[in-house]
Amino acid sequence: MIVKSLTLTNFRNYVQQTVEFDNGINIIHGKNGQGKTNILESIFMCSAAKSPRTSNFKEMVNMDTNDDFFVISMDYSFRDMDSNIKIKYDNRGKTFIYNDIVLDKVGELMTRFLSILFTPEDLYIIKGGPECRRRFLDMFICQVDKGYFYLLQKYNRLLKQKSSCLKADADSSEKETYIHVLNDYMADIGSKVIDKRLSVLREMKEKTYAIHKNISNGLEEIDLNYVFSGKKIDDHNVKETMNQKLDESLEKELLRKVCLVGPHRDDIEIRINEKDARTFGSQGQIRTAALSLKLCQADIMEKKCGEKPVVLLDDVLSELDIGRQRAIVEKFQKNQIIITCTDKEKILENNNGSIRYIFVQKGKIIV
Ligand SMILES: Nc1ncnc2c1ncn2[C@@H]1O[C@H](COP(=O)(O)OP(=O)(O)O)[C@@H](O)[C@H]1O
Ligand SMILES: [Mg+2]
Repeated sequence: MIVKSLTLTNFRNYVQQTVEFDNGINIIHGKNGQGKTNILESIFMCSAAKSPRTSNFKEMVNMDTNDDFFVISMDYSFRDMDSNIKIKYDNRGKTFIYNDIVLDKVGELMTRFLSILFTPEDLYIIKGGPECRRRFLDMFICQVDKGYFYLLQKYNRLLKQKSSCLKADADSSEKETYIHVLNDYMADIGSKVIDKRLSVLREMKEKTYAIHKNISNGLEEIDLNYVFSGKKIDDHNVKETMNQKLDESLEKELLRKVCLVGPHRDDIEIRINEKDARTFGSQGQIRTAALSLKLCQADIMEKKCGEKPVVLLDDVLSELDIGRQRAIVEKFQKNQIIITCTDKEKILENNNGSIRYIFVQKGKIIV
């Protein structure tokens, strides 16, 4: 998977800009606030159909121009075939275009282009709330499995329905009957969501363990477990377990008027040397854990899709010592890598391969 060139129109602080990339290492450098991350954001959106920074597309329209649209157009090659993805947004909404064909559903964009983004915010996968870990896992599974994307959509629609029913001012017995019907669907679709998460997590558990042990010089053992309704679960009878929990919680849900049970409330427990990393992890352990999780995802992505994802490193290399910088670059020596940094002298010193440098200033590429 190689990004050849990217053209941004009215996206963030870009008015109209084309950027060309090399197959190997590309370093985007420049001062803070010039538009380096914006480039990685737009590339990542071509694989996830979502920004890692916001769910609001309007926010990404260049607010310094009078136009009310943006376009991201990316030329890339996948299995030696040249392709193009366009993401357009205007006041009528979002459009996703693959090789000049408008996709009728967003999910159809999934798996056409693969990238993996490393950012300083990855630390929140470990130290943030459960929603950070759910988003991390969901976004990843969507990228490699469009069936999961549709499943999540379905579940979220049900959740909305149930939630508005719980809040509605209806007769209580009528409400209860309707909730029972919805709960059947919730258990059916919700358990499928959990099953998929469990199967990906099982794969991640083993791989992350090995990677983490390696980059912590054999000192640390990481363990990942899925937590449903406050309890660790495996893949045994998920539907039944969820059905039971929904029944048990019905009264509480009616009282509190919120949906308390289901994959939208679940968590992933991350333990390092048998202690909960969120509470007890040191800064170094948290950083290593976030890195291991991402490296593991890159492996799984490649295995599932048979192509090396494009690796996007947003301001993360400068925080690592030269040894770890090299370990990452070595791991991805056959992937295309696009790196952002403020000080290009400080990273990849002594790298003997060729590097393409891209200098960004105020939303313009200055070659
Ligand atoms: N919708 C927008 N319209 C215009 N400028 C924007 C928009 N969103 C962000 N920016 C600008 O983009 C810049 C930040 O870009 P970013 O790529 O995050 O910088 P960095 O080079 O530090 O990675 C800031 O100057 C910010 O004001
Ligand atoms: Mg940045």
